[in-house]
Amino acid sequence: MKHIITFAGSNSKNSINKELAVYASSLVEDVEVTVLDLNDFELPIYGIDHEVAHGIPENVYKFLEHIKSSDGIIISLAEHNGAYTTAFKNLFDWLSRAEQKTFLGKPMLLMATSPGGRGGQSVLDIAGDRFPRHDASIVAKFSLPSFGTNFQDGSIVNEDLKAQLLNEIEAFKTSL
Ligand SMILES: Cc1cc2nc3c(=O)[nH]c(=O)nc-3n(C[C@H](O)[C@H](O)[C@H](O)COP(=O)(O)O)c2cc1C
Repeated sequence: MKHIITFAGSNSKNSINKELAVYASSLVEDVEVTVLDLNDFELPIYGIDHEVAHGIPENVYKFLEHIKSSDGIIISLAEHNGAYTTAFKNLFDWLSRAEQKTFLGKPMLLMATSPGGRGGQSVLDIAGDRFPRHDASIVAKFSLPSFGTNFQDGSIVNEDLKAQLLNEIEAFKTSL
């Protein structure tokens, strides 16, 4: 059976992106899912001086191992001030020091959501441009706007948006 990992680009305990990531992964039939949480991979703030003095932390390799052992990745990025959250950017920077081809060519469903009407489109654009330079194979993309209205009791309630996501899930599943 294929194995996928899913996580949010957020360290919030109540992350709406984690809710979306877990929901999306539940729609992929016949795969084993591992849900990751950035809080389980605590890291110092990246800095070259820290790296020279102490090397790359074990948690970076642990996270990388999850990517390596997966057949695909579902990620939902939280947007802070139009960009990655600090927690995700920090992890990404560390990962890129350990492995420049960070995403190792794995098929990726790239998503974002926010309470606002743009649904994290800015961070989605940033990642859509950047991740392929780190060997991400983005096969599907989805943005969920107005999370509070469109996502209730664990699922997307807006039928058009749900249909859109199911299309993206289909593309992702086919690529595994
Ligand atoms: C510092 C900060 C900046 C934010 N900037 C944005 C933003 O640029 N765009 C947006 O849609 N939401 C923004 N938000 C709201 C987040 O989308 C919201 O907090 C969301 O719950 C974050 O996702 P998460 O719950 O998965 O962490 C911001 C929130 C914080 C705390």
